[in-house]
Amino acid sequence: MKIFLDTADVEEIRQAAEMGMLDGVTTNPSLVAKTGRPFAEVIKEITTIVDGPISAEVVAEDAEGMLREARELAKIHDNITVKIPMTAEGMKAVTRCAVEGISTNVTLVFQPLQGLLAAKAGANFISPFVGRLDDVGHDGMEMVADLVEMLLNYEYDSEVIVASIRSPSHVYRAALMGADIVTVPYKVLLSLFKHPLTDTGIAKFLADYEKIPKA
Ligand code: E4P
Repeated sequence: MKIFLDTADVEEIRQAAEMGMLDGVTTNPSLVAKTGRPFAEVIKEITTIVDGPISAEVVAEDAEGMLREARELAKIHDNITVKIPMTAEGMKAVTRCAVEGISTNVTLVFQPLQGLLAAKAGANFISPFVGRLDDVGHDGMEMVADLVEMLLNYEYDSEVIVASIRSPSHVYRAALMGADIVTVPYKVLLSLFKHPLTDTGIAKFLADYEKIPKA
């Protein structure tokens, strides 16, 4: 399973890269806004840290506008994947991007049939949002399981990026159902390393080491 970091914070991206965990990055306008830095500057810097797909989102709502933005974003670096929302206009833009060889990630997917349409339009990546579904009382990961099954039924090549992840259990279930990618906030990435028995085990070994007579 590939791990992407869901952030526009370059320090977090550097840390994850050093841990050898980083296969790609997803950003969105809200994440870039948090950095307080210009959009293109942040995206360009991310391309210098990670050698994998980097999602940068369009903000136009019409297909022509999205396509114009997609072409500009794609010029930044070969690793740019253009994030396009799941709308009818969005799918027009995805279809055109596929013809032009621009990689796309269809975002804001909340039900499996939306994902199926994204695959049909030729999306390289599809991002079902699990946490936001859980927030309104649904089981986001069930939706992902159905989407993964649908894509397998028709042998689509689009890769599923489980997005809007809130906890390690989302990652656990994603791995069990064979989702291609998880995109995780830095905090969740760090929590994946942790187990209380690992910490107490290290403490015990260090304490016992102190008891070993020094030569
Ligand atoms: C994914 O590509 C999105 O950027 C992200 O996962 C949204 O997560 P949120 O629901 O925590 O904002």
